[in-house]
Amino acid sequence: MELIIVKNQLEGGKAGLKLLSQAMQNGAKTLGLATGSTPVEFYNQVVNSSLDFSEMTSVNLDEYVGLDGSNEQSYRYFMNKHLFDEKPFKENFLPNGKALDLDAEVKAYDQVIANHPIDWQILGIGQNGHIGFNEPGTKETVTTHVVDLTPSTIKANARFFENEAEVPKQAISMGLATIMKTKEIVLMAYGKEKAQALKGMIEGEVSIDLPASLLKKHPHVTVIADEAAASLLN
Ligand code: F6R
Repeated sequence: MELIIVKNQLEGGKAGLKLLSQAMQNGAKTLGLATGSTPVEFYNQVVNSSLDFSEMTSVNLDEYVGLDGSNEQSYRYFMNKHLFDEKPFKENFLPNGKALDLDAEVKAYDQVIANHPIDWQILGIGQNGHIGFNEPGTKETVTTHVVDLTPSTIKANARFFENEAEVPKQAISMGLATIMKTKEIVLMAYGKEKAQALKGMIEGEVSIDLPASLLKKHPHVTVIADEAAASLLN
């Protein structure tokens, strides 16, 4: 696991863009993408770059259950706004949060990933160490699944909604097994709220109590952290 410490999110976005450019030069065709506040500056850098995605496929980590793409809090809406409207891809896949049959939807999403193996995956990290919406205690072997969000994640994500009661209680998320199969991972962490989780991930034991710690077993992970997120590291 390689660690790049940057001054702030802007520098982190630039570092992420460099890694993405290299991966694309080396033939990456399918990108695994994340939402949330962490990758916003990275997407900004991508949008302002000369990279061309017209032959690329994207597969997102997750989507809230119950929200469709026209809902401003949905991850589909987020991706359109921050990346896809500016940089068209060949195809963009996200789980369908409005699927009537969620079991069928998770199977269909696994099939999408089987058809488009992920070459380069971007991740944020939750304050509780989640990656995607794989909360502490999730089985290592899970692929795409429906997740009951923990109170701490609902609380953390309430900042994007009018109030906490509006945060969906479930999401569809790529599983830990899916994430571990991606070829290359870049995890970004910004702000002091992430410092404890980052320390646990880098310096602690591999444990499902902190899902991000599993990434120690992945052969090609780069962590981009700002000074605040890295402040508790030895
Ligand atoms: C988002 C995702 C989540 C976030 C994490 C951090 O697609 O899968 O794991 O990366 O919750 O969220 P932010 O970046 O908002 O702090």
